[in-house]
Amino acid sequence: MLIVLLGPPGAGKGTQGERLAERLSLPKIATGDVFRAAVREGTPLGLEAKGYMDRGELVPDAVILGIMREVLASPEAARGAILDGVVRTVPQAEGFSDMIAKLGRALDAVLVFDVADDELVRRLSGRTVCDVCQTPYMGIEPGTACAKQDGGTLVRRKDDEPEAIRNRLKVYHEQTEPVIAWYEQHDFPVHRIDAVGALDDVTGRALATLTGAASA
Ligand code: AP5
Repeated sequence: MLIVLLGPPGAGKGTQGERLAERLSLPKIATGDVFRAAVREGTPLGLEAKGYMDRGELVPDAVILGIMREVLASPEAARGAILDGVVRTVPQAEGFSDMIAKLGRALDAVLVFDVADDELVRRLSGRTVCDVCQTPYMGIEPGTACAKQDGGTLVRRKDDEPEAIRNRLKVYHEQTEPVIAWYEQHDFPVHRIDAVGALDDVTGRALATLTGAASA
């Protein structure tokens, strides 16, 4: 099962992606996590991505298409994957669609997490993440140990500074929202999820949508 998660920064793609991956026994692959790991390790990919990420801009399409190819070829994703933020521009959606068609695979669902901008700003301004496993937390101070006891410490992401948040929202509305229309126009199974409310409720809505889509 290949599932693309779309939605603005702070909509809960990472949080819900983790939960869906666990429930569906699929790996979750997040390009944001791939880039942050590369930045930490100081690899050429990390050096290229860092400036874009810190400013809240998108990393160039050519880099993303290379990562998508690696993801689809990986044994880890042979049974499918939850793809968190992997597709963010129309050229990326086109490229990804061509790749999966050539491999004879199908995109089973595009889940769009809907949250209003003021709630997104509130969430991102209060977020800390584990510097080891990337788990996001709400309202917990930087410097606190990660609850997953992996030796990680909670930090604030550089792109959660107010100016970068504003830019990420602008980039989302200009470059990623058109991806939803593109998928709809090309008859991909797009489902909108109300992503406001308790975490369990949002997970329940997403799972109910996926179950309904699979039995339709
Ligand atoms: P990425 O790390 O994917 O950032 P993002 O898309 O901006 O998304 P976030 O991780 O900020 O938010 P989220 O939706 O995962 O929400 P979360 O679950 O954390 O990408 C970073 C950068 O990498 C991009 O800006 C770009 O530069 C680059 N990049 C990555 N992919 C790319 C691509 N394909 N093309 C080009 N560039 C790319 O939740 C947010 C907070 O809210 C958390 O604190 C959480 O605890 C809380 N929360 C979650 N759900 C709820 C709820 N229901 N109620 C209350 N609080 C909640």
